[in-house]
Amino acid sequence: MGQETIDLVAFDERHLDGAVLLSRETGWPHRREDWAMVLALSHGFVALQGDVVVGTAMLTPFGDDCATVNMVIVAASMRGRGLGRKLMDAALQACGARECRLTATADGLPLYEKLGFSATHEIRQHQGIVTPLPADAAQDALKLDWAGPESFPAVAALDLQALGMDRRPLLRLLTEAGRMVIHREAGRIVGYAAMRRFGRGEVIGPVVANTLDQAQSLLSFLIASRPGAFLRVDTAEWQQLSPWLSAHGLVSVGGGIAMRRNVIGTRPLGPAKPFALASQALG
Ligand SMILES: CC(C)(COP(=O)(O)OP(=O)(O)OC[C@H]1O[C@@H](n2cnc3c(N)ncnc32)[C@H](O)[C@@H]1OP(=O)(O)O)[C@@H](O)C(=O)NCCC(=O)NCCS
Repeated sequence: MGQETIDLVAFDERHLDGAVLLSRETGWPHRREDWAMVLALSHGFVALQGDVVVGTAMLTPFGDDCATVNMVIVAASMRGRGLGRKLMDAALQACGARECRLTATADGLPLYEKLGFSATHEIRQHQGIVTPLPADAAQDALKLDWAGPESFPAVAALDLQALGMDRRPLLRLLTEAGRMVIHREAGRIVGYAAMRRFGRGEVIGPVVANTLDQAQSLLSFLIASRPGAFLRVDTAEWQQLSPWLSAHGLVSVGGGIAMRRNVIGTRPLGPAKPFALASQALG
């Protein structure tokens, strides 16, 4: 292949198949549907060599003051020529003055540092076939229930409290694409967890709760509903959920570094905390 021109264009549905090939070559498990979900929420950019997708990046805005950058990939044969930086420049232009968050791989870290991102914490990826839960694992069944449409405002408020960004469009897609369980205390919704198909199996996340115990109850409830399934959970190391996940058969297979750029002041964070990510792409 010669030194053909690379075009940077807006990512649309026609590029999905090429993007799936690119992520597979990189060892990422995303299916076409997983790419389509991120695209539905994002401004996407794709680098084309002729008709071939050789690079991607997405900017997912969450409200007016926050966004995530994700799906940054350059074909192995094209790396080290400035394409990653060009894609990131396009994504950051779409980000504007928003605070920008991402989960970096070891490959991406040097580029992101050069672009002004700073590491905040470590993300651990756990996955596997879960070991069967003891019979009393659903002991909190009275406090836990499947979420209905009436739960949405409370779930969205908890998510905002935990993340400091308005993820309502994502939460709507998650309720359509999968199942959600809520945790009540004294009649109030204090936590939620979502599960959907993703990659090789299913992913549980986000998990938002006030305490580690509540987060584990939510996870137990969802895990018990899918015996034998291949499950994945991404969690921030500081939330200390990793040992529990490992003990239940979801082993740590790596992770990434959470980074932020252009951090906007202090946000009104409440007792709700994010125990598991929706995905490394979407926080
Ligand atoms: C991360 C990735 C997109 C970078 O793409 P790329 O086209 O090779 O990046 P560029 O050529 O634009 O290099 C970007 C900058 O990072 C620097 N850089 C890249 N790798 C580096 C390394 N290992 N150490 C130090 N600097 C490095 C380059 O020197 C360049 O700096 P410059 O613009 O000041 O010259 C690519 O490696 C990739 O697709 N990796 C696999 C998927 C992945 O992990 N994506 C990141 C997800 S968070």
